[in-house]
Amino acid sequence: MNKLKALFLSVAVAFSISMTAQPKADLKMDQFVRTLMGKMTLDEKIGQLHLPVAADVVTGQANSSETAKFIRQGRVGGILNIKTAAKIHTIQKVAVEESRLKIPLMFGLDVIHGYQTMFPIPLALSCSWDLKLIEQSARIAAQEASADGQCWTFSPMVDISRDPRWGRVSEGSGEDPYLGSLIAKAMINGYQGDDLKKNNTIMACVKHFALYGAVEAGREYNTTDMSRLRMYNEYFAPYKAAVEAGAGSVMTSFNEVDGIPASGNKWLMTDVLRKQWGFGGFIVTDYTAIPEMSEHGLGDLQQVSKIALQAGVDMDMVGEGFLTTLKKSLKEGLVTQSQIDMACRRVLEAKYKLGLFDDPFRYCDEERAKNELFTTENRMAARNTATQAIVLLKNSNQILPLKRRGTIALVGPLADNKENMTGTWSVAADYPKSVSLLTGMREAVGTSATILMAKGTNVVNDTALNSRISIFGKPTYYDNRTQSEMVAEAVAIAKKSDVVIAALGEAAEMSGECASRSDINLPENQKELLKALLATGKPVVVVLFNGRPLSLSWENANATAIVESWFLGSEAGNAIADVLFGKVNPSGKLTMTFPQNIGQIPLYYNHKNTGRPLVKGWFEKFHSNFLDVSNEPLYPFGYGLGYSLFSYGDLKLSATTAKGNQIISASIAVTNAGQFDGDETVQLYLHDLAASVTRPVKELKGFQKIALKAGETKEVSFKLSVDDLKFYNSDLKYDWESGDFEIMVGGNSRDLKSVKINWVK
Ligand code: BGC
Repeated sequence: MNKLKALFLSVAVAFSISMTAQPKADLKMDQFVRTLMGKMTLDEKIGQLHLPVAADVVTGQANSSETAKFIRQGRVGGILNIKTAAKIHTIQKVAVEESRLKIPLMFGLDVIHGYQTMFPIPLALSCSWDLKLIEQSARIAAQEASADGQCWTFSPMVDISRDPRWGRVSEGSGEDPYLGSLIAKAMINGYQGDDLKKNNTIMACVKHFALYGAVEAGREYNTTDMSRLRMYNEYFAPYKAAVEAGAGSVMTSFNEVDGIPASGNKWLMTDVLRKQWGFGGFIVTDYTAIPEMSEHGLGDLQQVSKIALQAGVDMDMVGEGFLTTLKKSLKEGLVTQSQIDMACRRVLEAKYKLGLFDDPFRYCDEERAKNELFTTENRMAARNTATQAIVLLKNSNQILPLKRRGTIALVGPLADNKENMTGTWSVAADYPKSVSLLTGMREAVGTSATILMAKGTNVVNDTALNSRISIFGKPTYYDNRTQSEMVAEAVAIAKKSDVVIAALGEAAEMSGECASRSDINLPENQKELLKALLATGKPVVVVLFNGRPLSLSWENANATAIVESWFLGSEAGNAIADVLFGKVNPSGKLTMTFPQNIGQIPLYYNHKNTGRPLVKGWFEKFHSNFLDVSNEPLYPFGYGLGYSLFSYGDLKLSATTAKGNQIISASIAVTNAGQFDGDETVQLYLHDLAASVTRPVKELKGFQKIALKAGETKEVSFKLSVDDLKFYNSDLKYDWESGDFEIMVGGNSRDLKSVKINWVK
């Protein structure tokens, strides 16, 4: 190669690096994509930016469908929501055999918490505080999905969420940016592995960028408005962590950010994501988010498509804005050829990274699909993970673990409902294959105890609401008997039993997308059932199924025990039985605060102080509190019981004054003072006592999940550095400031041992 040519190539590559901020320049990829794009027509380039939904693409019809026609014309970049290796093979064949340039398609699906083997919903997974298990769940999901044709997942969802009315809190990791960032990284590693080209890894898509978790009133798709300081300090961290972990793609969110819908927000997509964070992958919109910008009030389809492209969006999910308007906009000088080229390049690079140009059928091995889905091994992993996601909220008189003897009444609308066990976003699951609580308990007790079962009530008695929550093939089995008839039947079996298990809560589709609730109490009819069961005087263990924090003050005051089971996936019933009967000592800890009532929302542990905090405790006139409820949550962030009792010694620091880059260690003795071996998640929080901008009253900065035998004591030690003190100041500069800090360690965000340290530059 002559010198001039070499120089040209290196400048060209450097240019593409700075524009796409690739971590490492891949000369071969660059050359490949450049050559390919040199052959592409404008229509073909725009075609790569189009991501239609499967809809009319099914095997057999593939050749005659409208989408197939577009594929043949080279006007489709990928397809979402099509399942099975066989179907995907058929469609891919059309692309690589019948289109002019034979460019393979990408196939994406919402593989959110498992593929066929379902793991706990993400909110539940996060309650395990076990990054290895979380990574493993994503790894298994990737293995199964890739065996069945998928190469791209719309996960992880890393939106920080503080409002349990929002149904999508179920899809994320709760309210904490630090934990959320670590989980984001674990999920990306799990999906993408160490090499995206392997046939058992898939590309991750971090979503929803950005701030979707802060929609007003928790109402789905609603407006978000927040200060930049809050964005940077509280909401951005998990997205940034996912980018740093190498996520191949990012999805825009539906909400507006600073008055501009995310899909058209150049500051967000280009300045923050690409320039500040160095994101080098491609950006896809959420489903029809481009045309939705017209509803937001930004103009007609041509105008909003132009805005999206110029903001830095590369692929248009279902919206057809790019497909139908970009050519015209180019002619009219509204967009440039290089803007279209850049988006096309990024999509092609993603395909290259996935190895699709080497082998477009890499992910369509029907043999693998036959052998690698829903295996015994994967189900065992799902069961083990599910046991770790369960959070024990209350356990009076140590009623749990239960003995495997006598008579147990199992009551409630979710006691024998296998279809709802997987929770929201389980698009590839075969629902009836999940294990219900009844099946799990029967399996656990065998013939050593008798289990009596009654439904007791419906999930909801309102038939209109019932039809809204029993979609997607997850029936609630609405019972037409009267409430009193059903309750009477349940009470009758309760009376004959030694203990009652009440399986209550939400149907799977009462959380997830477009499942906001204005009332997060248990439905009134379920409360009535619970009251009747408690009136029998028998101990009542409430086993909850839900995808969000609920308002449980009454239940907490009255039920004997409460087990938060969320939606645990394919092995839910077995996992819950493992915990109920003591095969597993529960160790999950909440990652979202449970309020005492709905009026306290949003309620989160890492809030700011006011100028008038409580001094003596609730109620204080002219201080920041409510007349009718204290400021305390019902269950704080990080809270969760076990069958053991953990006690904490004094917190010791290696020094109480520090300078500059010193490393300080914080240690504490933790003792298992109970009768059972168990795991405890020891949490470290920090409070910056005086700074140039107000700082939260506490922020999680570290945690360790340790195993302790009954009676055992372990010294747990954390290392602290100035990195733990850093925050974004009002110039959005990430730095730390000299001063006093409070370090706190304990088993949840409320019950903490604390010491102060002075740390100066
Ligand atoms: C959701 C996304 C999802 C997409 C594709 C949208 O409605 O907001 O989270 O990935 O659909 O199914």
